Amino acid sequence: MNFEMLKTEIHGRVALVRLDRPSALNALCDQLMGELGTALRDFDADPAIGAIVLTGSDRAFAAGADIREMQSRSYPDTAMNDFIGATWEVVTTIRKPVIAAVAGYALGGGCELAMMCDMIIAADTAKFGQPEINLGVIPGAGGTQRLTRAIGKSKAMDMVLTGRMMDATEAERANLVARVVPAGELVAEALRVATTIASLSPVAVALAKRSVSRAFETTLAEGVAYERAVFLALFGTPHQREGMAAFLEKRKPDFI
Ligand code: CAA
Repeated sequence: MNFEMLKTEIHGRVALVRLDRPSALNALCDQLMGELGTALRDFDADPAIGAIVLTGSDRAFAAGADIREMQSRSYPDTAMNDFIGATWEVVTTIRKPVIAAVAGYALGGGCELAMMCDMIIAADTAKFGQPEINLGVIPGAGGTQRLTRAIGKSKAMDMVLTGRMMDATEAERANLVARVVPAGELVAEALRVATTIASLSPVAVALAKRSVSRAFETTLAEGVAYERAVFLALFGTPHQREGMAAFLEKRKPDFI
């Protein structure tokens, strides 16, 4: 795949997508988000890929939507052209797990993009924030909703109303991130996690992701019923036979 604002690499069954717009701290302009949507959709459709890692640079995962590009937009134009909308939402439609590996700034749309991923692994240099209030607007790619669900109302209000940044230690304490690692080990650790996931039953992984994601969209009773239906359906797959036989035969399962 050839992109101007992304770099992609394949590591076994894992695709690594690196946001690569250093001149603007990976600000998420229309072109970059278009390229990202294409890359994610292509890797999602590729059976040789089992999980995706999304990262940025040491300095910035992404410093937000592109303020220079956004500055002159007007209301009817933003509404009629579905600004943010479908282009960004692509990230939430990917069936395979997407791990955000965040070093440096993850601000505004950058923080929102990381939160659209299935888990965030942070470098000890990571800084998260929703500073849109300083620009006279509010988060526009899910920040008020996903941040609130992740860290709770009081802390989300603190972040969204003051625009302050949260460091990696605070983000881990607040449950925004799954784990924090030294900056030099970030991508290797994310690739390790993704490689483990990519070695498991692809259908069980996809349905596990869908079931956890369901918790944010439904009642407890409906979510549990959905989970049960998925659990039972997996008994119709060869992976359930292989996984359980391997356990009983004291060997490693072979799902791929
Ligand atoms: N959009 C466009 N360009 C950006 C940018 C952004 N979000 N963030 C940084 N840049 C550019 C800067 O303009 C600068 O470019 P020039 O060298 O051409 O001037 C370059 O990246 C380096 O940035 P700084 O010189 O500002 O670097 P710094 O180390 O002094 O500060 C920073 C880093 C604190 C991240 C600062 O750049 C900053 O505050 N950026 C804006 C963060 C922000 O407000 N994000 C929210 C955007 S709105 C949004 O995301 C809406 C939404 O919800 C979808």
